[in-house]
Amino acid sequence: MTAYQQLQTRLAQEPATWLITGVAGFIGSNLLETLLKLNQRVVGLDNFATGHQRNLDEVQSLVTPAQWTHFHFIQGDIRNLADCQQAMVHRHSREGGNPPPPNHPVNYVLHQAALGSVPRSIADPLTTNATNITGFLNMLVAARDAQVKRFVYAASSSTYGDHPGLPKVEDVIGKPLSPYAVTKYVNELYADVFARNYGLQSIGLRYFNVFGPRQDPEGAYAAVIPKWIASLIRGEPVYINGDGETSRDFCFIDNVVQANLLAATAPVIAGSDPQSMSPVNQVFNVAVGDRTTLNELYAQLHRNLLPRYPHLEDAQPVHREFRAGDVRHSLADIGKAQRLLGYAPTQRIGEGVALAMPWYIGQK
Ligand SMILES: NC(=O)c1ccc[n+]([C@@H]2O[C@H](COP(=O)([O-])OP(=O)(O)OC[C@H]3O[C@@H](n4cnc5c(N)ncnc54)[C@H](O)[C@@H]3O)[C@@H](O)[C@H]2O)c1
Repeated sequence: MTAYQQLQTRLAQEPATWLITGVAGFIGSNLLETLLKLNQRVVGLDNFATGHQRNLDEVQSLVTPAQWTHFHFIQGDIRNLADCQQAMVHRHSREGGNPPPPNHPVNYVLHQAALGSVPRSIADPLTTNATNITGFLNMLVAARDAQVKRFVYAASSSTYGDHPGLPKVEDVIGKPLSPYAVTKYVNELYADVFARNYGLQSIGLRYFNVFGPRQDPEGAYAAVIPKWIASLIRGEPVYINGDGETSRDFCFIDNVVQANLLAATAPVIAGSDPQSMSPVNQVFNVAVGDRTTLNELYAQLHRNLLPRYPHLEDAQPVHREFRAGDVRHSLADIGKAQRLLGYAPTQRIGEGVALAMPWYIGQK
């Protein structure tokens, strides 16, 4: 049994209370689905800036009615401290009864709410900063005051910035290349300072290009995989920024969900031996350790869609200028997460694309 399988068995027997911020978004709604299926209690916070009610509706359709009663949604904004504080308790709003069931304080925070996208942050650094830094700080303060057991947060591979080394190892970073990257690095600095000054236990997960069901294919700032699939299905041009030899370590959503649950529950380890270093108050790469160029990605998506969409027979991508702020190559060393969290990715890019494809096709 893997560490994750053991954890799932344990959680199903001992329900805990989780707060997921950004719960109506791509990663947040996938965390929600997994946790409800494991019979956990979940509070969700979202202001629908980039998330959607339809993601919550889809999760509701995938869990049992009893599991859904364990979800309490708060429409709120992490830029408001009061909203963050309000989210620190789980209320059984749908259960009723006399006497009413107890409120449960949040045990684990999975902080996903942020404004993603490098180009969005270049176009509007103020809103990105307010959400990703002020909002993050509000969440840290609320989590500290609520004395949660663990604060797990979405960090980013963009923190490697201009450092050319490959694969990326956690303690060697360069200079940030975008306002977005600055905000994600500041998150790590704040989490570290809250550990030192207030004893708040946190773990930062540096996600590398996550993909999967419920990742929004629409809008100017859509991620490459859903955007390209939607364009291919509609017979619209697919644009590759640059020569297509830019590479990424694409990570299927199930691997990211696994990393979050392992990080939230990883035990603190005492002692100074680096081999048995404690995972708490650390950052981890969350990826697969595979490098795929954009040209290879295009070929893979085209290959998957061609049998169903014959209009793609002669389709060719259109190359255009490189995009400002983009890192040229990205590939993770996932050894630290494997050693300290027991992280073991279950899907590589090809398996993930095959699993996600029915969802994208259903979105037309
Ligand atoms: N998807 C990736 O490849 C990737 C890579 C690295 C890091 N990340 C990080 O992972 C997290 C989740 O990303 P995602 O891909 O699910 O994006 P997403 O846009 O689908 O989800 C983000 C969610 O946060 C919510 N949100 C934004 N501002 C908010 C605010 N002020 N108050 C409350 N909620 C707010 C949005 O409405 C949305 O539901 C983000 O922190 C992102 O920076 C994602």
